[in-house]
Amino acid sequence: MKIGVVGVGYVGLVTGACLADLGNDIICVDIDKKKINNLKKGMLPIFEPGLEELLKRNKKRIKFTSILREGIQKSDIIFIAVGTPPKENGEADLTFVKNVAKGIGKYINGYKIIIDKSTVPVGMGDIIASIINSNMKKKYQFDVVSCPEFLREGSAIHDFMNPDRIVIGISKKEVGNKVAEIFKPLNTKIIITDIRSAEMIKYASNSFLATKISFINEIANICERVGANVKVVAEVAGLDKRIGGLFLEAGAGFGGSCFPKDVSALINIAKHEDYEPLILKAVMETNKLQRKNIFNKIKQILGTIEGRQIGVLGIAFKPNTDDIRDAVSIDIINLLLQKGCNVKAFDPAAMENAKKVLKGVHFCKDIYSVAEDSECLVILTEWNEFKEADLNKIKKLMKNPAIVDGRNIYDPKFVKKLGFKYIGIGRN
Ligand code: UGA
Repeated sequence: MKIGVVGVGYVGLVTGACLADLGNDIICVDIDKKKINNLKKGMLPIFEPGLEELLKRNKKRIKFTSILREGIQKSDIIFIAVGTPPKENGEADLTFVKNVAKGIGKYINGYKIIIDKSTVPVGMGDIIASIINSNMKKKYQFDVVSCPEFLREGSAIHDFMNPDRIVIGISKKEVGNKVAEIFKPLNTKIIITDIRSAEMIKYASNSFLATKISFINEIANICERVGANVKVVAEVAGLDKRIGGLFLEAGAGFGGSCFPKDVSALINIAKHEDYEPLILKAVMETNKLQRKNIFNKIKQILGTIEGRQIGVLGIAFKPNTDDIRDAVSIDIINLLLQKGCNVKAFDPAAMENAKKVLKGVHFCKDIYSVAEDSECLVILTEWNEFKEADLNKIKKLMKNPAIVDGRNIYDPKFVKKLGFKYIGIGRN
């Protein structure tokens, strides 16, 4: 099939590369000429395990252009995969999606299926269709479909190729069957539903996962106070199939470009309809509080915080990515800097991005340079590299051997036995 993908962010680029791997001819379009020129040279705008090899392997089936007209006119199916970043008030900014819809209306040259993969408020499918209609000079037939994406950064290719389900929101049955053809090679459950339900499934899924995280963080905070161990509690509660063990890792809370944005957007959608979403609001509040809790734990372990040297391990919002959008690290580091701390930091992938937004931090080349002369190490991302670090060496290098483990990567008993002061999350 001839498929255009508009937007070469995480979703767009991974979708393009994976669909090419499934045998389709792909044109990836983005207005950012620099990104497109780099992609033509094989330079990727994001760090995603396996993506570079996948693009190389499918070089002949995947083209890059910054000319939207080309992407639209040469494709029968067009995926919209542009960003919907949050506005100040938490609503999703739909400018990019609307611009693509305008472009489709302007350049459409025959029947097209337009598949929206961007996360958009319920009802956007209708708006996309009306924008296309009002921008068409000559009338062509087209259908709009919603196909929400569930891939995770850091395991995006695996997630695309091995989905738990594919959701296709349509207004005409035959269109659903056509779109299902694209995903048949993935051998998974394909659910065809109406467009509004498909759009809502995405928000409901991300919000539920975020709820699980805030819930377990709240349980962790109670565990700390009553002397229970949240790891055990989560593992055993998760054995109940109705609960499920995944996404119950207590820690510094969720970050990234999806959960905070999508939960806030759903809160706004509900409020717009005069409904007060109490659970969703609590999910966001608890997540905010969890960041403050990390800061308080640093204070607790050191007594006073002003002027101290703090070593931060992990800046990315999660391992296996260089993405620092809404990362816990940014809030914690800024709080520490405000208190006059000297902050050293290291991340295996996110250093370049971190340098652009965090000023006044001493960026180090590895774990051990961070540890040197530090009075407290704070773990904010659970990179394997940190789990495997030589803790004896770290202890010798530190001025005061203390760890605040915001991701529960170390065994408290083991670390304390080595001579560290240690505070984790939800276990003593
Ligand atoms: C999330 C969803 O998991 C994907 O299904 C979805 O497609 C994507 O958003 C999106 O909407 O595009 P992602 O943001 O890449 O994916 O990352 P996750 O692996 O879900 O992690 C999100 C945050 O939750 C991270 O900060 C992580 O550290 C935190 N987390 C995750 C926890 O604190 N505890 C957990 O048990 C799991």
